[in-house]
Amino acid sequence: MGFILAAVGSAVGLGNIWRFPFITGQYGGSSFLITYLAFVALIGFPAILVEFVIGRRTDRNPVGALRELGSGVWSYAGWLFVVTGFIILSYYSVVAGWFLRYTLIGITEGYTLTDPTEANALFGTVSTGLDTLLFHAVFMLLVVGIIAAGVRRGIELSVKVMVPAILVMLVGLAAYGFTLDGAAAAYGYYLSPDFGTITANWTEILPAAAGQAFFTLSLGMGVMITYASYLGEDRNLAADAGIIATIDTLIAVLVGFVVFPVLFTVGIEPGTGGAGAIFVSLTSAFASVPGGRIIGIVFFGMVGIAALSSAISILEVLVSYLIDELGVARVPASAALGAAVFLLGVPVTLDLVFLNLYDLLADGILLVLGSLLLALFVGWVIPDVGRAELRKGIADVGDLDGAWIWAVRIPIVIVVIVSLYLGIVDY
Ligand code: PFF
Ligand code: NA
Repeated sequence: MGFILAAVGSAVGLGNIWRFPFITGQYGGSSFLITYLAFVALIGFPAILVEFVIGRRTDRNPVGALRELGSGVWSYAGWLFVVTGFIILSYYSVVAGWFLRYTLIGITEGYTLTDPTEANALFGTVSTGLDTLLFHAVFMLLVVGIIAAGVRRGIELSVKVMVPAILVMLVGLAAYGFTLDGAAAAYGYYLSPDFGTITANWTEILPAAAGQAFFTLSLGMGVMITYASYLGEDRNLAADAGIIATIDTLIAVLVGFVVFPVLFTVGIEPGTGGAGAIFVSLTSAFASVPGGRIIGIVFFGMVGIAALSSAISILEVLVSYLIDELGVARVPASAALGAAVFLLGVPVTLDLVFLNLYDLLADGILLVLGSLLLALFVGWVIPDVGRAELRKGIADVGDLDGAWIWAVRIPIVIVVIVSLYLGIVDY
């Protein structure tokens, strides 16, 4: 139970609530959605199992795990994970700070702006400047404090409360979205894919959907390896992976049912919403619904907690690396890494250009590269170890392990190499 909660806590976060709606808007709504859903099922799910089998097999941190299972070169993948974690956490924390700020705005002033131009202006002040830096610092302090103290119980409890609460609030907000004037247009935009659009724009949609699938499921930097190292031999890895992918996907898809009806109603073209899409649409929704102030405070606060449990999983990979490989103690390791991550995030608080740059690099290139190395490693270097590990704890396995290793060897590798190439060109 603790494992599922921690893994769901890592998966559910800003990737679902902030990144998913704005990337979906940017890449054309339904065409992106269907590609993304296909990738979660066909690539994300097998890729979770890749990390699970490595972690449970070795009981080690990602770097140690790869060194134990493979020789020399594979341990360098661990370095890649560390670099990726640094970059992702640095901007993740800045964006999480925005959510803290919006929570505070609700408490002190309430949400009053229904005019999208004003809501946009508010987003502008929240997303850059000295206050932004301050909230980034507060968020990193929370992450470092929890990791330094090594608390696991608090995380599990917060996930137990937060995930159901977010689900319930999203369903309520989606029902509100249904009542809006723009709902019909939004559903058309979000739900009826046009395959002509996908084929015409596949060089953009494919890497974006693959990157989002890896990002949202916390794949490609060893988080799931680390968490699976705590798993017992009797756990059914496939069932656990299914639960995690399902909850994570459900939350993201629901967010679309909130954001797009609001954007269409207030007259914002979804492709132009950018990083502020979720904030502009939600503040306008909270300004209009009865009880919107309370709902808003709780919602933004819950997302802050969701972001915290994801950020913790990232810092834990970095810290466990320093502890295991360099023998640094937990508290100084957490403090030093936290300070470095904070500094790396400073440019993001000055100009959103850096947000795009970091995000494109981490999501379009580094996570995809990490997933590629892991898939190649398990699929081609240690396939028998992987299959044996997957079979444990599954009563009626059939040829699940055979189908899985096939998916890991060829389809994942192809999609990831193509995405990586397009991602690098784009960058
Ligand atoms: N999966 C997290 C989210 O959707 O917000 C973000 C994330 C966590 C990405 C951990 C990568 C990672 F290793
Ligand atoms: Na996610």
